[in-house]
Formats: sequence, C-alpha cells, structure tokens
Amino acid sequence: MSSLTNKHILLGVSGSIAAYKAPDVVRRLQDLGAKVRVILTQGGAQFITELSLQAISKNKVHDNLWDKEAELSMGHIELAKWADAILIAPASANTIANLASGKACDLLSSVILASDCPILIAPAMNQQMYASDGVKANLSTLSKRNITLIQGEEGEQACGDIGEGRLAESGEIAKQVGLIFQSTKLSGKKILITLGATMEPIDPVRYITNHSSGKMGSALADACIEAGAQVTLVHGNISIALNQKATSISATTAEKMYQSVIDNISKQDIFIACAAVSDYSSKNIEKNKIKKSGKNLILELTPSKDILKEVCQLDKKPICIGFAAETQNLVENAKNKLKNKGCDAIILNDVSKDDSGFKSDENEVIFIDQKGSVKLPKNSKQKLGRKIIEIIGDKFL
Ligand code: PMT
Repeated sequence: MSSLTNKHILLGVSGSIAAYKAPDVVRRLQDLGAKVRVILTQGGAQFITELSLQAISKNKVHDNLWDKEAELSMGHIELAKWADAILIAPASANTIANLASGKACDLLSSVILASDCPILIAPAMNQQMYASDGVKANLSTLSKRNITLIQGEEGEQACGDIGEGRLAESGEIAKQVGLIFQSTKLSGKKILITLGATMEPIDPVRYITNHSSGKMGSALADACIEAGAQVTLVHGNISIALNQKATSISATTAEKMYQSVIDNISKQDIFIACAAVSDYSSKNIEKNKIKKSGKNLILELTPSKDILKEVCQLDKKPICIGFAAETQNLVENAKNKLKNKGCDAIILNDVSKDDSGFKSDENEVIFIDQKGSVKLPKNSKQKLGRKIIEIIGDKFL
C-alpha cells in the first residue's frame, strides 16, 4: 500500500511558468495512490490548460468561485470537505500573499479558508521575488499557521536568472505530501478492530445479515496504521479490500467473531467494535433448504454473545470503543449502550439515512464518553476515521 492510497489530494495550480509541470505533479501523486482534483487559478490558466489537467487528473478542473452550477451545492465547501490534503504547486507570490492575508478572493483561497485539512505549498517564482522581504514575511506567516512549505530549489530559472525559487521536483513534492499522513503517535500500540456484517445462517442457502460494508472499520484501520499501530482486523462480510499491513481474520457469524476476538484480545491496547454483529442467531440451522409451504414460517432465534460487553468485562481489558447504530432516540440510546456495555467511549451514528452510516462513503458521528461528547460533522469515512483515532489517542493514551 502506497503512502497516498485512498487519499484525496486537492491540487491548486497558480500563476507561474512552472504550472506547465502541474500534470507531472498530478501523475506523481497518482503513482502514490492519490485521487487528485485540481483548482486552476486565473493566473495558472495563463500557463497550462484546463484540458491537460482534466485529462491527467481524470476529473473536472475547478476554476471559478462564481460557477452557478457548482455553487448550487456549495461547490467550494464540498471541495474543502473532499480534500484530505491541499497542495498548491506551483504557488505564486500572489497566491502566497492571498493565503497569508486570509483572503477569499478566488476559488482556491476560499477553499483554503473553508478547509480543516493539512495544507502544503510549493512556491515557484523568480529568485529575486523569492528572496524579497514581502514573500519571506508571507511564508513565515503561513508556516506559523502550520502550512507546510516545500522549499523551492536552486538552479537556472525560466527567465535566465540563477538562484532559489524553482519548483521542487514533482516526485519530491508527492513524497512530501505522503509524509504528512505518516505519524508515530500510535507506534508500538496494538489495536483490534471488528468490522463488516455477520451472517447468521438459517439453512444451507439463507442467512440473516445487515447492510454493513466494512468501510467505516477499514477507514479506522487505515488511520491506525498511518499512525504506526499494529492492527488486527476481525471481519464479517465486507465489500472492500482491507489494508494489507493489517492482520485480517475472517469471522462471518457472531459466534465465530466472538471466538476470534477472544483468541486475539490479549496484549491489545485498544479494541474498537465497529462490526454490525447480529444480536440473534438461529436456534436450529436446518440441514436442508427450508421448503416453501405457503404457510407462515416461524424462526426461533437465540441471543448471540455481546462481544463488546464481554471484552469490557475482561480482567485485563483494553481501552474499549464501541459504535452505536441507531435509528431513533439517538443520543439516549447511545448513552445507554455506553453504560450497559461498560465501554470507554461510544461512537453514535444514525443508520436510518441513505447518505451516511451503512454502505455510504460518508458518515457523521458523535463521539461520546463519560466526560462529554464531540460532534464530528458529515465527512468521508477516511477523514472521520483519522479524526476518531486522533480523539482516542488524545483522550486515552
Ligand atoms: O460498515 P459500513 O457500511 O461502513 O457501516 C458502518 C457501521 C454503520 C456498521 C458502523 O459505523 C457501526 O455503527 N457499527 C456498529 C453496528 C452495530 O452493531 O451497532 P449496535 O448499536 O447494534 O451495537 C453496539 C456495539 O456493540 C457495536 O460496537 C457492536 O459492534 C457491538 N456488538 C453488538 C452486538 C454483539 N452481539 N456484539 C457486539 O460486539
């Protein structure tokens, strides 16, 4: 798995002759697994065409804050939410000045103000401009705001000057974007995550299941791995590929999932129960396919073991984080689960909606523990996964 697998990178291309290198930057980001969308400023469009960037990124290029169609759905907010990181390459002196003064004068500067993700800038300009007090002061302002500077290189410039201010090599830019997702916050920690849907057979061909795809659990796993943790995944039925850096164990029924978790729980520092586990299993699994009789069919179901609750009751219990999948009385039900299961925190999500919860690429959750709650607004499961892991790290480690 590459350093930018599943990452959404928003590339801002501003007005510098080095904009002709932007397609190569897109390519290098894609080589590391990123999905790339591009914002082209008016200045950038003087040096590179929208069509080239669209062809390479395989996405529509965004160039207008006042695009009536895009702004119907608040296009600049949508772009800001989509991005896991924003890279401006090349960043012109003018774009750097706009960012430093907090302007929202075009689409790129507005998206930057509306985003909460890491931002990187790779400046490119004439060496005299790069060395000027104005540019230096603006770069220093941006670095105080935790914007990562990818230093310009020294060498011969398009204007014939020799000095600092050339755009860094595309491969180096992509590598530095990859590095911002690596951390050591959870290094040495062991984390077990359950995910996906259990399938409770009623006969050899039929089973009771639910809509879980495994996306939320997989996003949590990616975030833990990025932060340096050793991850074990116990999964039911899933519709996505799992991070190969994790140890994956398939457990399709509630009973098998319980057994796999218990077999692997010792020495784990954190347990995250994200799986949608069936609360009931069929008392008798018919040996042969149940025949249609035209009469009502009554299935007898028995309660399955509550995996999360059992782990919370272990003598040497890890930090236990549960999920609450609710359709009504959301907060009240989630708080009851937090108490009854005895976990350290519970993450509430509403599973009655089509555009979040089950199956969707997005979710919105409330992280609830004994001390209070934090609402995490709707976002991609990847981004939410990172946020949730950050909160768990800050609160419990
Ligand atoms: O997989 P996706 O399509 O991305 O969807 C994500 C999700 C909606 C499945 C996920 O975000 C989620 O809410 N997971 C928990 C689903 C669930 O079973 O919730 P629950 O409220 O019924 O259970 C509460 C907690 O107890 C959960 O942590 C669950 O894993 C755990 N549990 C439940 C029953 C059981 N027998 N054993 C358990 O460990």
